[in-house]
Amino acid sequence: IRHLISLADYSKEEILELVKLGEKIYNSPKDYAKSCEGKIMATLFFEPSTRTKFSFESAMLRLGGNVLGFSDANTSSVKKGESVADTIRCISYYADIAVMRHPKEGTPKLASMYSEIPIINAGDGGHLHPTQTLTDLLTIHTYKGGLENHVIGLCGDLKYGRTVHSLIKTMARFNTKKFVLISPEELTLPESLKRYLKDNYDVKIKEVRYIEEAIEELDILYMTRIQKERFFNEEDYLKLKNTYILDNDKIRNGKKDMIIMHPLPRVNEISYEVDSDKRAIYFKQAKMGVYVRMALITKLLEVE
Ligand code: CP
Repeated sequence: IRHLISLADYSKEEILELVKLGEKIYNSPKDYAKSCEGKIMATLFFEPSTRTKFSFESAMLRLGGNVLGFSDANTSSVKKGESVADTIRCISYYADIAVMRHPKEGTPKLASMYSEIPIINAGDGGHLHPTQTLTDLLTIHTYKGGLENHVIGLCGDLKYGRTVHSLIKTMARFNTKKFVLISPEELTLPESLKRYLKDNYDVKIKEVRYIEEAIEELDILYMTRIQKERFFNEEDYLKLKNTYILDNDKIRNGKKDMIIMHPLPRVNEISYEVDSDKRAIYFKQAKMGVYVRMALITKLLEVE
């Protein structure tokens, strides 16, 4: 069985194939309206979600399949102390594919070891969020005309941000020219990840504190939320929560064809005034999530 736990388990060619299939489905979704007829997808969300859960469910319904699941683990027998292993063993009998989000790093991987159906990691703690990365890749491919040779600025919570960790690891494989890491000292990219990039890729890495120090050179500005739920105490969060507030003034010197992305949800890190700038594509990005997830489901269920 093929799962998607990390994109590191997929070749560059396979990733590109998923992105291109996502693009094809986006252009002619009706051609895929019956691809998953008779198939069932289970969504197991042990952490809150709007985009990932709904876009997966929308994807499966648009493919002609059905969905079941929970978004509150308290309504499942996990509440009675059942293990993830036993849960997934049983879900394997009720569904053909399962999507799991869990606050604990590695839980979807553990589930895949006990599963008889494909497991998709929909975000595990501060670790990885591979289907957000696929969404980001389809967005970059569509709005920048390709995945290679970009200067990418990543701003906000680079320490705990699983979307950032997944994206950096994957975009490094697509010959990214330069990563500009924009974060407060407390939320810098983990040293292990920086070392991994330096040891394995010929990519420049620059670290700055403020967006204004780098805006002029960016092809892509990827904003992220300071994530309250990843802090051990509220005081530390309160100190950092207003660090970045992107407004029209801060992007004035950005390239005309720069794109501004954000995995969403946002809190206050992008002012609403930026939404009407044509470079702001974060809602288009959220839309792309449906089509690339349609591509992934058809591949894993081998119904394409
Ligand atoms: N981008 C993302 O993962 O959003 P949700 O948390 O709403 O699923």
